[in-house]
Amino acid sequence: MASNVTAIPMGIELGPISGNSGTVAGYISGNAQLIGSVTETYNIQYNERLETPPSPSCDIPFCRDPDFVDRGTLLDEIHEKCSTPASRIALVGFGGVGKSQLAIEHCYRTADRSPETWVFWVHASNAARVEQGYRAIADQVKLAGRKDPQADIFELVSSWLRNEKNGKWLLVLDNADDAVSLSLQASNGHKIQASGGDRARQRHLASYLPPSKNGAVMVTSRTRSTALELVEDPDILTIEPMGIIGAQSLLRKKLGEGIDNDGIAELATALEFMPLALVQAAAYIRQRAPRCSTTREAVFEETTKLRTLFF
Ligand SMILES: Nc1ncnc2c1ncn2[C@@H]1O[C@H](COP(=O)(O)OP(=O)(O)OP(=O)(O)O)[C@@H](O)[C@H]1O
Ligand SMILES: [Mg+2]
Repeated sequence: MASNVTAIPMGIELGPISGNSGTVAGYISGNAQLIGSVTETYNIQYNERLETPPSPSCDIPFCRDPDFVDRGTLLDEIHEKCSTPASRIALVGFGGVGKSQLAIEHCYRTADRSPETWVFWVHASNAARVEQGYRAIADQVKLAGRKDPQADIFELVSSWLRNEKNGKWLLVLDNADDAVSLSLQASNGHKIQASGGDRARQRHLASYLPPSKNGAVMVTSRTRSTALELVEDPDILTIEPMGIIGAQSLLRKKLGEGIDNDGIAELATALEFMPLALVQAAAYIRQRAPRCSTTREAVFEETTKLRTLFF
């Protein structure tokens, strides 16, 4: 963001200056006296090097899970919904049912099949993390002006998302469980002094999610009413526990082959096919009962203890 420098933030350095008018290439530095004269003469790029525009990338804070178990047609459905222009989708379901895992896998598949798509991930469990996520997006796309303390990062990112010249993008808002975390304050230095106080500067996250024919927004939430603040009712996909086949397959992946089939089926059923309970149970069994005792009897015994832990 080009701006005339009127104040001299500390710690800014002055790059090479040639000529006696025009824009300073490189980044600004120097002492107050020098800047004082520079201010009159130069239009300065605020505190930022000119950066090479980056190529689209997928930046999500989780590795792809090699033990991911496909859940029937769910990912196809998600892909289809996210492929329509300006799409929004929310995966809603109980904690541990596998919403984030589906979102992660969808991100990686999107990056594989469409490397020209930007993939962004924002933890939306509270307002501070949302802001952190928007800052990470600004860094990922090397948004000009993002380091300016006066810049409102939400506005900056939102206009980037709105600009169709920036190409395709997928934005995940993960764990948007609580409506309070969707109420944001402008992220610039003026928020305290704003007329009407902080409350007047509060804006809903939805207002920073511009519709763009190139963009898809995917929300994960435990709370339907919160999801409805970001998407329309038909955009909600309710995620249920796994099917019995998927649950058994997950247990087998976690416990290894050669496990008693009846024991696996019993454990999956006892844990009501909930992925989080299944992976925790498998970890517990592996820790407590080495390979030789993953027989039906041993699994039954552990299952009884686990049921009291999980339900
Ligand atoms: N399809 C899957 N394949 C393999 N493991 C899975 C799958 N789905 C979920 N899991 C496992 O279950 C755990 C819980 O899943 P996940 O974190 O996606 O649940 P969630 O619905 O997002 O829960 P929360 O509401 O607490 O965020 C994951 O850490 C992962 O280990
Ligand atoms: Mg989650």
